[in-house]
Amino acid sequence: MPELRSVGLETDLSLFKYDDLEQLPERYRELSEQERTKRIATAREALGDDVVVLGHNYQRREIVEHADFVGDSYELSRRAAEADAEYVVFCGVTFMAESADVITDDDQTVILPSMEASCPMAGMAEALQVDTAWEKLTAAAPDSDVVPVTYMNSYADLKAFCAEQGGLVCTSSNAHEAFEYALDRGDTVLFLPDKHLGENTAHRLGMADSIVEWDPWDSDSKDASAIADADIILWDGYCQVHERFTADHVATVRERFEDANVIVHPECRREVVEAADVVGSTSTIREAVATADPGETWAIGTEIHLSNHLQRWHPEVNVVPLCGDACMDCNAMRQVDPNYLTWVLEGLVENDPHNVIEVPEREAELAELAIERMLEL
Ligand code: 13P
Ligand code: SF4
Repeated sequence: MPELRSVGLETDLSLFKYDDLEQLPERYRELSEQERTKRIATAREALGDDVVVLGHNYQRREIVEHADFVGDSYELSRRAAEADAEYVVFCGVTFMAESADVITDDDQTVILPSMEASCPMAGMAEALQVDTAWEKLTAAAPDSDVVPVTYMNSYADLKAFCAEQGGLVCTSSNAHEAFEYALDRGDTVLFLPDKHLGENTAHRLGMADSIVEWDPWDSDSKDASAIADADIILWDGYCQVHERFTADHVATVRERFEDANVIVHPECRREVVEAADVVGSTSTIREAVATADPGETWAIGTEIHLSNHLQRWHPEVNVVPLCGDACMDCNAMRQVDPNYLTWVLEGLVENDPHNVIEVPEREAELAELAIERMLEL
C-alpha cells in the first residue's frame, strides 16, 4: 500500500466503505425459498408504499422477482428519487446506493441489504488515492488545466472531489459528452476509474492518439510530468467481469452462430468493443434484446445474470452469453442474497432499519453537483 497523504479530504481507505457493517443474523441464513418468499410478501404488505425495492440488472433472479423496478445504475437512482417511499431498498452495490442517497430527499432512507456489496472497480480509485495523485499531477503541470471526470461507478467522495475540481460524473451512455464538457473547460481530462470505458470513449471522439494510462503507484508507469501533456489521462482501473471478454470470444460466437448480433458493455476491452456490433449500458443491452425479432441470436458481453434474465424474459430470442460458461457473475452484486432482503424488510416492519447508507452532508452536496453537471450535458 502506498503512503497516502490527503490534502483536504476527510475520508478513509476501507474495503467496504461503511464501518457500521451488519452481518446477516444466524436465524436468517437457512431460509428456504418458499419461506422467504412468503415472509418478503408479508413484510411488503405491511410496509405498503413506505418502501420501494430496486434491483440492478445484475442481481440474481430471486432478487429481481421481488423488485419494483429493475434497471441500470443511474435509472434506479432516478426511480428512487421519483418514488414517495420513505425507505428505498437498493439491491445493487455501494456506489449505487450512495448515488440514490445523494439524489433522494432528506426524509428518504436508503438501505443496501449487504454492506459487503462493494464494486471492486469503484475501490480502485478511492478519493484519498486520487487526491494524492492529483497533487502530483497538478504540481508536475502547473500551467495545465486538468478536469476530472468520474464514471458513475465510483464512491460519493470521489464524485465530490470531481465537483470541487470543476469536473463531473458520467454514465457509460454519456461519457463522450462529459469528455467534451471537460475539454471545453480545460486542457486535459483525468478519467476515473475505468480505463476501458475511457479508451472506448476516446476512440468514439477520434482522440485515440491522445490518451495515456496512469497508475501513480506503479514504478514502471510514467511519472506525472511525463503524462501531464496528454489530452486524456486514464486511471488504471477496470472491471474484472468485463475484462474477461476477448476478441476471440466474439470470433468464436460468430463461427457458431452465423447471424449473431454481438452486443457488449463499454467496460469491455477496446478489441472487444471493436469486434462487436453494438456497445451500450445494461439498459441498451436490455432494449436490444426486447426489440429483437423472434429467432434472432444476440450474444451478450456483460455480467451473466443479465444474460440469464434476458433469456428468461424473451424466450423467443436466442440469447447467448458471449463467453459461454466462462462468463462471470459480479462478486459484489452476488453479496445481496434474498435472505438479506428478507432481513432488511422485516427490520423495517419492526422499525429497526439495517444497513442504512448515509453520505455525509457536504460530500452529498458536492456529489450532487457533479451529477447535476452531468444532467445538463
Ligand atoms: P450500468 O450503469 O450500465 O447498469 O452498469 C453498471 C455496472 O456496474 C456495469 O458493470
Ligand atoms: Fe463493479 Fe464490474 Fe460488478 Fe459492475 S460488474 S458492479 S463494474 S465489479
